[in-house]
Amino acid sequence: MTVPLSEDHARALDAGDPLAALRAGFHVPLHEGREQAYFCGNSLGLQPRDARAHVEEVLEKWAHEAVEGHFRGQAQWMPYHELVAAPLADVVGAEREEVVAMNSLTANLHFLMVSFYRPTAERPAILIEAGAFPSDRYAVESQIRFHGFDPATDLIELAPDAPGGTVSMAAIEQAIERHGPRLALVLWPGVQYRTGQAFDVAGIARLAHAAGAVAGFDLAHAVGNLPLRLHDAGADFAVWCHYKYLNAGPGAVAGAFVHARHAHTDRPRFAGWWGHEAATRFRMGPRFAPTPGAEGWQLSNPPILGLAPLRASLELFGRAGMAALRARSERLTGYLEALVRGHLDDVLEILTPAERGCQLSLRVRAGREAGRALFEHLAADGVLGDWREPDVIRISPAPLYNHHADVLRFARSALRWREGQ
Ligand SMILES: Cc1ncc(COP(=O)(O)O)c(C=O)c1O
Repeated sequence: MTVPLSEDHARALDAGDPLAALRAGFHVPLHEGREQAYFCGNSLGLQPRDARAHVEEVLEKWAHEAVEGHFRGQAQWMPYHELVAAPLADVVGAEREEVVAMNSLTANLHFLMVSFYRPTAERPAILIEAGAFPSDRYAVESQIRFHGFDPATDLIELAPDAPGGTVSMAAIEQAIERHGPRLALVLWPGVQYRTGQAFDVAGIARLAHAAGAVAGFDLAHAVGNLPLRLHDAGADFAVWCHYKYLNAGPGAVAGAFVHARHAHTDRPRFAGWWGHEAATRFRMGPRFAPTPGAEGWQLSNPPILGLAPLRASLELFGRAGMAALRARSERLTGYLEALVRGHLDDVLEILTPAERGCQLSLRVRAGREAGRALFEHLAADGVLGDWREPDVIRISPAPLYNHHADVLRFARSALRWREGQ
């Protein structure tokens, strides 16, 4: 049965859902006096209303306590990163000691590769997906060169083998089997940024380990989008950013996971004083003794103003719970899929497979020119997705703040555009 294009129906789908009220906790940009239908949580999540209070708390503390803010009163700066570690561990399914908020995503990828990409003449290679996010590709290529190896032979890029530019688990398995003895590291996304395909983190970690390789993950598009169980999945390390589904603001401090089995590792690392064990850090001794766990990879004292908005977002995640958010996300994206299949099938092809988070990547069948025209028509209607060359519009209903009525607005706006063609 075709899903109706009715506002009453869309409103009814949110009516019984307590999570729909969480939208009130966010600033939604206005378009011509009305809240935008904002679908860019895959790029920059909306601002939690409490972010300002958390930032102001830091500014006030700085104004009134100055250096003593590090170790006096509420939300002291010395252990400030610990305020986000426990709720973050819940979001990614990790133990408290396995996660840390620090640096930026690409920086964390490099720092963790320093420890977890240890190539040898027999085992120099890294396996990634063809079409990986450019920063990841630059990072792994530069690491391979840094170690004196050759990306032409040692960077293995697995091409898509399934519809819509997606990659089957069978292809991943075959590639790991084929290159296994030469693989030092398998670096894979949790959710692919272009197609929205979600991958089986545990399955890929298992395959990498069976081949004798390390399993690392870029979870930029997975964190806060899918319930993750990083500890149980057995990933060696993972990195992600907090500006997408974690709503911590542009260029927000990023996140990293190091599995508990490496908590006391003697692998090489690039060290800094904030990674030194907290109890003796201020003895200012010359010998580095790492804090066990992920915090041992910290370099610098963290940017407190940068961490403050993340606290606001994590409070909302804590209230909702990842399992309930995922259930709502499946309903929202399922509704989007049903509207596209039922009413817009001649305009849009869904590239995203059933294994997905909240994002649908929609290829405009009529090609780039028509696609740009549709994208601009949507934006002029207050419906904001994002554009990926050459012909893809990404629409990501975020369960924390999107309503079914937003999704309906997208479908109706696209239909109006089609009627005008
Ligand atoms: C999948 C993926 N990896 C890496 C990055 C790079 O992130 P950063 O600029 O925070 O290092 C992004 C940014 O959007 C991304 O989507």
